[in-house]
Amino acid sequence: MFDEEMDFESRLVTPEFSSADEESMELSLRPRTLKDYIGQDKVKENLKIYIDAALRRGESLDHVLLYGPPGLGKTTLAGIIAAEMGVDIRVTSGPAIEKQGDLAALLTNLNDGDVLFIDEIHRLSRQVEEVLYPAMEDHAIDIIIGKGPSARSIRLDLPRFTLVGATTRAGLLSAPLRDRFGMILRLELYTAENLADIVNRSAGILGIEIDPKGAAEIATRSRGTPRIANRLLKRSRDFAEVMGNGIITKDIADLALARMEIDPLGLDNIDRLMLTTMVKNYNGGPVGLETIAAAIGEDPATIEDVYEPYLMQIGFLSRTPRGRKVTPAGFRHLGLNLPDPAVESGQQTF
Ligand code: ADE
Repeated sequence: MFDEEMDFESRLVTPEFSSADEESMELSLRPRTLKDYIGQDKVKENLKIYIDAALRRGESLDHVLLYGPPGLGKTTLAGIIAAEMGVDIRVTSGPAIEKQGDLAALLTNLNDGDVLFIDEIHRLSRQVEEVLYPAMEDHAIDIIIGKGPSARSIRLDLPRFTLVGATTRAGLLSAPLRDRFGMILRLELYTAENLADIVNRSAGILGIEIDPKGAAEIATRSRGTPRIANRLLKRSRDFAEVMGNGIITKDIADLALARMEIDPLGLDNIDRLMLTTMVKNYNGGPVGLETIAAAIGEDPATIEDVYEPYLMQIGFLSRTPRGRKVTPAGFRHLGLNLPDPAVESGQQTF
């Protein structure tokens, strides 16, 4: 069942950004205004108030931290924040800023009000983070000139920029950094209705014909993630063109998704491998994250950020103090028998 060759990069339902998403998928499909951004209503409503208030006062927007699973539109939202504020955006990521000087160069090149977007901000090194504290708080950086006893520090004023940071889990951020954000906004997995709207919007932009049942089918199998929905839309179009009449109907979507081994709830081989391994090897849990990761050959952080949010959202997995557990609904979905309660409680059965 599980294809050994299939790595994380090639996983069709991966919410991580891949080269296939470039160009049409991510760029032209990206909404550019809050009005065009579907879903995340709470985040949108609050953000609109903060933006309107800052614009009325003629101030830059306070620093924003966006967090939530990958593929939900954190980068898109950063672009929208800049567009709504009428400023430019510079995009970078935590791992790309290696030295303090890299960040200093970025900061000193901003204009008043500009947005600096740092994706994966939890991956900044401690040294780089230290440059960020005075930059966020006082709009200044301290530069050390010279070495040894004659070294001295000079303070350089920066433009009044807005930092938009994105992370998959706010808990990964150091407390001093987290505390310096004026807004912390959590993005949630999308509802199937929102995803169907996104699929229809994207189909319109790409000139793809799709009927409502086809859009609904793609939406329910996209794990709450627009990036996956857009990718499945593109692949379904391929099936519609080669095996149908070019229109994505429910039958074509079913066929495409079955060929991609994505089940009716959007689970793929790796989700099913994870759940069946937990059931077969550990009686459904509780089992520790590291143990699951080692058993299926996957990185624990990837399991936590990518696989678990959706499995928990649909109620197939629960987190307990003693580890992860497959729920009765998860057992039923896999067609497996529920665990023996005696075994589960640790008693011996003979
Ligand atoms: N494309 C990807 N995410 C989107 C969203 N939230 N709204 C509209 N189009 C999108």
